Amino acid sequence: MNAGDPGLHVESVNKGFRLGPSRVEVLHDVTLHLAPGEALAVTGPSGSGKSTLLHLIGALEAPDSGSIHVGGTDLATLSDVDLARFRNQSIGFVFQHHHLLPQYTVLENVLLPTLAFAKSGRGAAAGQEAWARELLDRVGLSPRLDHRPGELSGGERQRAALARALVMRPAVLLCDEPTGSLDPETAQTVGDLLLELHRVQESILVTVTHSEALAERFPRRCALVHGQCSAL
Ligand SMILES: Nc1ncnc2c1ncn2[C@@H]1O[C@H](COP(=O)(O)OP(=O)(O)O)[C@@H](O)[C@H]1O
Ligand SMILES: [Mg+2]
Repeated sequence: MNAGDPGLHVESVNKGFRLGPSRVEVLHDVTLHLAPGEALAVTGPSGSGKSTLLHLIGALEAPDSGSIHVGGTDLATLSDVDLARFRNQSIGFVFQHHHLLPQYTVLENVLLPTLAFAKSGRGAAAGQEAWARELLDRVGLSPRLDHRPGELSGGERQRAALARALVMRPAVLLCDEPTGSLDPETAQTVGDLLLELHRVQESILVTVTHSEALAERFPRRCALVHGQCSAL
């Protein structure tokens, strides 16, 4: 793989957890290659390791063996500070539950990731706010900028979470059952937005879902079964 390769490369990854005296092997020799602009839906039974796979790609956890490269960087070579920077700047995460902070407005929630490693400068901050407003406009939340999460519907909160995940223009967007707590109609809207924004951004999208309706809209699909990822 070239140093400048912009893709996501998961190579022969193994991951297990110690549970008391025993160990559970969760991922066994998982290999995945995705280029910018590609979108993959991951399905599989509960407990099959779908969230674990996303956590490894998002550098929230490290594999026991194997390697993960994003944009030419081997995640295993990053220091803790560089890992935090990588997560902030290269990874967007959308979870089943929105994880918006209740005390902040929608706009403030979307801007939070821009503060972590801010180089400051009023011009940069203004540019980021303009981009946050544009993202919120694209997900249909312009009339809700000053609302707090508690004042939004479930679908609106998930759309705000999507805008927050995209505010740093991440190379990789990871979604863990993003429509899992929404009714079918709202799920369809959030799925539409997810795929549309992914297309515009040319990011790499990996979405874990139990929804057949959502999974079948992805150009690539795989199922995690017995720790292995098989293309569908
Ligand atoms: N931090 C952890 N410590 C111990 N076991 C874990 C941990 N995270 C996940 N597991 C176990 O790994 C398996 C896969 O979990 P997970 O990746 O959450 O599955 P899925 O998202 O497919 O439902 C489960 O058996 C789970 O209990
Ligand atoms: Mg899970």
